[in-house]
Amino acid sequence: MLKKPTVAVTRKLPKQVEIKMSELYNVSLNKDDKPFTKLELINLVKTVDILICGVTDVIDADIISSAGKNLKLVANFGVGVNHIDLQAATRKNIIVSNTPDVLTEDTADLALTLILMTARRAGEGERIVRKNAWTGWTPTQLMGTRVFEKTLGIIGMGRIGQALAKRAKGFGMKIHYHNRRPCNKEIEDEIESIYFENLEEMLPTVDFLSINTPFTNETANIINSSRLDLLKSNCILVNTARGGIVDEDALIHSLKTKTIAGAGLDVYDGEPKINPEFFQLENVVLLPHLGSATLETRVAMGFRVIANIEKFLENNSVVDNVI
Ligand code: DGY
Repeated sequence: MLKKPTVAVTRKLPKQVEIKMSELYNVSLNKDDKPFTKLELINLVKTVDILICGVTDVIDADIISSAGKNLKLVANFGVGVNHIDLQAATRKNIIVSNTPDVLTEDTADLALTLILMTARRAGEGERIVRKNAWTGWTPTQLMGTRVFEKTLGIIGMGRIGQALAKRAKGFGMKIHYHNRRPCNKEIEDEIESIYFENLEEMLPTVDFLSINTPFTNETANIINSSRLDLLKSNCILVNTARGGIVDEDALIHSLKTKTIAGAGLDVYDGEPKINPEFFQLENVVLLPHLGSATLETRVAMGFRVIANIEKFLENNSVVDNVI
């Protein structure tokens, strides 16, 4: 039998995934789930054949250049790979894989959760009840805004954007979207959506704006103060993609001055640190990067990582090559 590959996993994964990995590989698990420091990562990549990492590990050029000659695959547990220096990996002939598809539906659910929570002021309501400060029903308490028949703008009409659009349609919403190129006609017709090539033209037309685009050099801070100023004052912004796509200082200013109505955030620039100014704002719903956090999806992500490794061991390629 061929020698089992040496595989390091940077974070604790669902039990059934860790059991399967332990059967297949000579695996080192992170039982207490403490994130590795940069130095620990540098030492780890010196000896392993395969590294399984996730969004909390910054796999930069220093780490990649420290990799031993055995490291040939970085298998990311997650779809976004902005935390990995892909150019440095390419230079070292290291393949990088990710786990698309399997988290689409749950991430779209979470975007819709944020839309509904923010529109219906669910966070504020929950805080009142939890403080035992609710004095009873009144005709004017916590009046939110309806989503039915409102317009949802989606930036990034990939898998998650489309899954969100289908859900929003079920809530009676109209869909506008901005993407590098329009979706094919079949998808556009199914979702009954309107394409805006120009983001600036779409922004003033929407009541809700959802960010569903990957974080890249092109999308960093695309929602900046001048674009926020184009939104209607009743608009609610929702971000389940990456914090750095939105200029958070500009967003805080828009929320404070009420030039937009609210925001629902699952991701933050520099997370897990969160700009404390958000905590002072009632019109914001803040979640801790829960997009793909269901047992079903996290198990499926783990098995997608395994599928990538198995293909790599078979023929030096992967199912989900991101480079
Ligand atoms: C992803 O898969 O990119 C999620 O944000 C979790 O990492």
